Amino acid sequence: MFAVHLLAFHFTKLKEDQITKVDRFLHQLRLSDDVLQDVAARFQAEMLKGLARDTNPTAAVKMLPSFVRSLPDGSEKGEFLAVDLGGSQLRAHQVRVSDDGKQSSQLESKFYPTPKEVTQGNGAELFDYIADCLSDFMDTRNLKQKKLPLGFTFSFPCKQTKLDEGVLLEWTKHFRVRGVQGTDVVSSLHRALQKHQDIDVDVLALVNDTVGTMMTCGYDDPRCEVGLIIGTGTNACYMEEMRHISLVEGDEGRMCINTEWGAFGDDGALDDLRTEFDRELDLGSLNPGKQLFEKMISSLYLGELVRLILLKMTKEGLLFNGKVSAALLTKGKIEMKHVSAMEKYKEGLSNTREILTELKLFPSEEDCVAVQHVCTIVSFRSANLCAAALAAILTRLRDNKKLLRMRTTVGIDGGLYKTHPRRLHPSTTRVPAGLALSPRAQLQHPASPKCLWGETPHIQIAKVSVGMRAELEYGLKREAQGQATVKMLPTYVCGMPDGTEKGKFLALDLGGTNFRVLLVKIKSGRRRSVQMYNKIFAIPLEIMQGTGEELFDHIVQCIADFLDYMGIKGARLPLGFTFSFPCRQTSIDKGTLVGWTKGFKATDCEGEDVVDMLREAIRRRNEFDLDIVAVVNDTVGTMMTCGYEDPNCEIGLIAGTVVAKWPLREGSTYVEYEKMTSGMYLGEIVREILIDLTKQGLLFRGHISESLRKRGIFETKFLSQIESTCEDSIIVKEVCAAVSTRAARLCGAGLAAVVEKRRQNRGVERLQITVGVDGTLYKLHPHFSRILQETVKELAPQCDVTFMLSEDGSGKGAALITAVAKRLHNVGQK
Ligand code: BG6
Ligand code: GLC
Repeated sequence: MFAVHLLAFHFTKLKEDQITKVDRFLHQLRLSDDVLQDVAARFQAEMLKGLARDTNPTAAVKMLPSFVRSLPDGSEKGEFLAVDLGGSQLRAHQVRVSDDGKQSSQLESKFYPTPKEVTQGNGAELFDYIADCLSDFMDTRNLKQKKLPLGFTFSFPCKQTKLDEGVLLEWTKHFRVRGVQGTDVVSSLHRALQKHQDIDVDVLALVNDTVGTMMTCGYDDPRCEVGLIIGTGTNACYMEEMRHISLVEGDEGRMCINTEWGAFGDDGALDDLRTEFDRELDLGSLNPGKQLFEKMISSLYLGELVRLILLKMTKEGLLFNGKVSAALLTKGKIEMKHVSAMEKYKEGLSNTREILTELKLFPSEEDCVAVQHVCTIVSFRSANLCAAALAAILTRLRDNKKLLRMRTTVGIDGGLYKTHPRRLHPSTTRVPAGLALSPRAQLQHPASPKCLWGETPHIQIAKVSVGMRAELEYGLKREAQGQATVKMLPTYVCGMPDGTEKGKFLALDLGGTNFRVLLVKIKSGRRRSVQMYNKIFAIPLEIMQGTGEELFDHIVQCIADFLDYMGIKGARLPLGFTFSFPCRQTSIDKGTLVGWTKGFKATDCEGEDVVDMLREAIRRRNEFDLDIVAVVNDTVGTMMTCGYEDPNCEIGLIAGTVVAKWPLREGSTYVEYEKMTSGMYLGEIVREILIDLTKQGLLFRGHISESLRKRGIFETKFLSQIESTCEDSIIVKEVCAAVSTRAARLCGAGLAAVVEKRRQNRGVERLQITVGVDGTLYKLHPHFSRILQETVKELAPQCDVTFMLSEDGSGKGAALITAVAKRLHNVGQK
């Protein structure tokens, strides 16, 4: 058993070391969310440039009108032929659209190779080859006697003036055929077909593969308005408003635009993101300086990118003992199919070993892990860049429709999308808007994190802060009492500890993850210190949700146990009661429960004074007496504990099971702030999202397991754990990250409003302030505290906020409050 653990540890360590090494080497290929948002913004600008008549001539992204004005409406019928050039193979199809217009079916397809003589020969030979293939296809399908209309899918940038005419602007991908650029490809095909006396076909339409893909999907789903190809090359088309296309006459309706996004960056717009490997790859390509975006994304190039990276790493002694093989030095030796095989979930590592061995590289275990990670980084960058540009298109579509939220369908095709092991969508080529390509893509797509954010996150978060500020002000007003959503409850804690407090105090802490009873010994003067002894007690569910009497009897039973345990049963100690639920107080030792939160539902408590209920329960037990001096909220306890160390501490914050009951007004409804930010609910939010993604077929092969159906199986502590391991499924990790980031940002926005209010109240230009903070989410989650702090800095730039972690603050704080209250009481008496 021990050996197994040792081995597992060794492998995990080995993996981590290699991953860190590669991450460091390829840090430039890892694009942060901000960079991707920026890429999306740049692509938006490129689209505008390409669409306008006066800027189009110099635009890199050509935004070519396709003369396709509508999606299929179901009235189409008949039999058609299609020939498709430009992907990994030449394809011929026979398509039938049913008489009732409800179904289109591809009756038969045949694939033909496109050898180098075809892709890099001369134009006449190319079109003759296409015509020959088509004739062969009609022969095998017995179609030669029929007169059939033909659609020509030609996946290269063509300037069209009508549906059946298109002048090739430039060859892309692996094609460089002489004598075709600048000519109409439809008439060339037509001429070649005429040489075949035995067939009679009419080329009716010329379409780009993106447009073909959109139309095919549009046939099944009328919402489809984007076509996307991620294969040998990459490109997208979408339905644009005619009034925005100044290259074509007319303002009515829409037309499909072939963006030709592969050329994004050809004018230098992406130079800051391109690495030395991208530049080297480009220099060795058929079209240097062209299709720079495509060269970072599509399958024709990714294998070569991996090869160039491995070569450099080897030369630097980071791989294969520094020994380069002849194969590794040879262009094109690593192809996309190898990259995909190496990234495979289970067999990935053994595939990697096999592939590297074939390249005569003699890999060690470490080498295999590192190479696999190189492949992952290259593929991730590809998917992320693609998603960023798609996000720009989706945002444009949404803006065109003047919608806040939009549901749309993207038709997708291409070998890379269909066969890469990390692709999300198993079988269909349709995905809802923004849910494309990669787990990151769906969550960071600016138009789509609609499942979590209504609008762009930073606009929203500033709004939250402003909203919170307004609620804080409103809650303080006398006339707001009872109506304010943010209650602003006075606590009657009027003084901070001044160091003169001393004595033994009891404290109860109810409402956090655990119920605790504490004995706190406070010493003053030179030996000033706080010592604590505490015991955790469980509160069974049936008691949390039973009667009030049962709950308070149970609490008193726990106190009795604790006093016994500490051997102080006879002492009548002052007690502070941390009761972390909303309470309306009229004095420091009176608190009426406004309403239960966090799963507590005990009857006959709401509207009652909880101190009275505790006193009653002590009386019922009739075993000991206690002097209940103060009832406090955990935030107040935390603030007091920090205030004991740092007089600048004026704020208490809990980010744990629960943050604070801070609901926000959104339109006319209320969104419960706590449910979006606190630990108790985040796991459930993640579960809901995972179910949703599974239903859409994006996760777990579309199968919702019994356990995923169970409420509460996904605890927030898993969020903290999942985000810090690398083995877990990337998509689940991304969902967790998105949910907890939103929670931290929202919490930060609320806190920013509070500190900003303190600054303005004090009338100072800059405010130095300390926030006492506690809670499992803050303490355990790997990013929560950082994101919270960054958000506060961003939204309250004039406040220098120090965060002081006050562990066990609320229990200790209850004792301190009790001590202060006692001190003030004594002063008053004197
Ligand atoms: C095919 C489409 O499925 O995908 C083609 O029918 C398209 O039109 C192709 O060009 C793109 O993928 P790949 O991997 O073949 O380049
Ligand atoms: C290239 C072509 C483009 C095509 C894409 C996908 O980018 O220029 O027309 O749509 O590859 O095949």
